[in-house]
Amino acid sequence: MKTYLVIGNPIGHSLSPLIHNYWFKKYKFVNYFYEKRKVDEEDLEKIVNAVRKNELRGVNVTVPFKQKIIPHLDGLDYTAEKTQSVNTLLKKDNRVVGFNTDSIGFYATLLKKYGYETTDNFKFFVIGAGGVTSSIIDGIGEANKIYVTNRTKFRSKELKKKFPKIEIIDWGTKPPICDIVINTTSVGLTKNENLKIDFSDYLNNKHTLFYDLIYNPKETNFLKNAKSRGNKIMNGQMMFLYQAQASFKLWTDVNPEINDEIIKILD
Ligand code: ATR
Repeated sequence: MKTYLVIGNPIGHSLSPLIHNYWFKKYKFVNYFYEKRKVDEEDLEKIVNAVRKNELRGVNVTVPFKQKIIPHLDGLDYTAEKTQSVNTLLKKDNRVVGFNTDSIGFYATLLKKYGYETTDNFKFFVIGAGGVTSSIIDGIGEANKIYVTNRTKFRSKELKKKFPKIEIIDWGTKPPICDIVINTTSVGLTKNENLKIDFSDYLNNKHTLFYDLIYNPKETNFLKNAKSRGNKIMNGQMMFLYQAQASFKLWTDVNPEINDEIIKILD
């Protein structure tokens, strides 16, 4: 049996096993199995060792361990190094290496799913400076104009150390009209929570995409409000699928198809 894991805490909500086991079956990887495991920080070393000993063939890492796993690894790929965030483990040349597929997962949604041919010269407004935000900024690419705001200014300043070209905006204020506005905060996970940012200047703006990384609930107030203003919207489901696709490709060399069937499984 070739075992794969997603580790996190909590982990009960994770839909990763559903996706990866579906792909293992579809692409005829016999005896491959993916499961979720709730772990504590003390368990991280053991998990990495299990990859080293081939007891685990691959691991996805989720909240709150994407950074905490790093000291236990033998190496990082370029994006994991840049973002200091790891969501995929793989043994390569006898070393356990940490990869970040969130970043490409995010960007793929804009190009492949949303249909932009390019986002060159787009302006991005990124709300939040939490664990996932560095992957989003890396995915956008620093060639674009990126404004970032966070309730706690210290954290946006820390982010600017990693990505010097971003422009920090005070919490509660807004940059000029942007092409894509992304919520990377946890506000909206609970019903009725709402970001206290006034977007009324986007009324009837059919160009701007409001993108919430949250996918449960499917439509946060951030997205509901955008929809009622006439803006485009997208939730985090597609990013979740595209990061899973990139992890699967790293592990198996097969690039699994993202189609309506897999989206239906998630719904
Ligand atoms: P995770 O690693 O799960 O992303 P995190 O790193 O704590 O968690 O990030 C949560 C993000 O949501 C942060 O940007 C956080 O802002 P602070 O840095 O000020 O804490 C943001 N966030 C959470 N609750 C918020 C709230 N009620 N209002 C505004 N921002 C909030």
